[in-house]
Amino acid sequence: MADERVGRVLVPADRLQARVAELAQEISRDHAGQKLLVIGVLKGAIFFIADLMRRLEVPCEVDFMAVSSYGASTHSSGVVRILKDLDTPIAGRDVLLVEDIVDSGLTLSYLMKNLASREPASLEICALLTKPGHRRLDLEIRYVGFDLPDVFVVGYGLDWDQRYRQLPYIAELRG
Ligand code: IMP
Repeated sequence: MADERVGRVLVPADRLQARVAELAQEISRDHAGQKLLVIGVLKGAIFFIADLMRRLEVPCEVDFMAVSSYGASTHSSGVVRILKDLDTPIAGRDVLLVEDIVDSGLTLSYLMKNLASREPASLEICALLTKPGHRRLDLEIRYVGFDLPDVFVVGYGLDWDQRYRQLPYIAELRG
């Protein structure tokens, strides 16, 4: 389905799947004996969450939040709005917040403050991809799939103007 806007492949499908399996193993090991509440951020994280959860070896539930995204822009505005909140209360729960990509980190730091105020027993982040920008914010991201350079990427859930989410790999957006 590639077209002229889909550029260089940065993470091919087989490397993605292998890394997701490793992350699931690590998370399962670290959380043995717990029941996890996996929270996904719509829409970008759905492919990652679906693959990750199928490989988790601890009992887990899933819930979703939706926050405002960039639209057709490729830069974070820094303004985060909750478009859909969780269905489940998280007080006393072991929560794993799963993000597709962390760029400036503004979305994630807003979400972490918001979720921490609901008093979960534990709250950790798993991000499939990170870009260098967030390092200023001192966010603790416990599980990271891949560190990317500072380029706009699409595929495996990530979109540009709602397109290219279904690509099975991560590619650079061209032009
Ligand atoms: P941040 O607040 O700058 O960290 O941006 C986080 C959100 O912006 C992500 O959850 C994505 O929805 C979106 N985003 C950031 N970088 C990219 C990218 O390279 N491709 C597609 N979406 C991105």
